[in-house]
Parts: sequence; C-alpha cells; structure tokens
Amino acid sequence: MTKKREIYKCEICGNITEVLHIGAGELVCCGQAMKLITEKTEDAGQDKHLPVIEQLPDNVCKGGDGIIVKIGEVTHPMEEDHYIEWVEVETKTGKIGKHFLKPGDSTEMEFQTRDEIVEVRVYCNVHGLWVKKIS
Ligand SMILES: [Fe+2]
Repeated sequence: MTKKREIYKCEICGNITEVLHIGAGELVCCGQAMKLITEKTEDAGQDKHLPVIEQLPDNVCKGGDGIIVKIGEVTHPMEEDHYIEWVEVETKTGKIGKHFLKPGDSTEMEFQTRDEIVEVRVYCNVHGLWVKKIS
C-alpha cells in the first residue's frame, strides 16, 4: 500500500508521480509497477543535494515569516542534463510549498510561511530525492 507524499517513477518512460491520496492499488505505468523513490538523508561527501536553510529576518523555522533554502553546501549544478527539478517545504500544520525549477535557475529560493518548517525535500533529476528533517 502506498503512503501519502511518496514519489514513484516509471523506469520505462520516466513519468514521476506523487501520492496525494492513499489507495489500495499498485501504481502502474507502461505496463509495469512504478518504482518507489526512497528519500536520501546524507550526501556521500559531495554535499550538493541536502538543503541549507537560513532564516528570513528574525526567526529560524519557529513561527517566523519564512526561510531561504539553498541547495547544497556546494552549489548544485543547474545544467540541461543535471539539475534540481523541485524543492518542497512542509510545515508542522501540514502545509506544503513547492518551487519547480529548470536548468539555469538559481538554487536559492524563499519560502514564505509563519508556520514551523519540519521538512525540506529536494529532487535531482540524476541523483533522486533528498530530505532534510528539521524538527
Ligand atoms: Fe544531483
């Protein structure tokens, strides 16, 4: 059975889907089961994928006005064949904010919220799904 917000990919055509509502069935594309993309929490020495989170002016993820997210201690490439496709922030109240990116875009962005941020997810088209849990 799927879980809410899981990400699945078709290994044939490349379709990627996110579970927004849990059902009993298996997710299928191109005639075969889609593959669950597992979340990675530690970069293997390159530090290009895990988000770095900074506060917007007064607070750090504790009811302030928002955060700045930068992708990686070392800036992640944003090239045609290797880039961050999206960045997603989840708050303690369950609100989700997502920025979709394209090659050439900045890897630094703001998320405005007064809620506490609990998780930031990043999806790289080559290296998959990364998550940083905040609280
Ligand atoms: Fe990458």
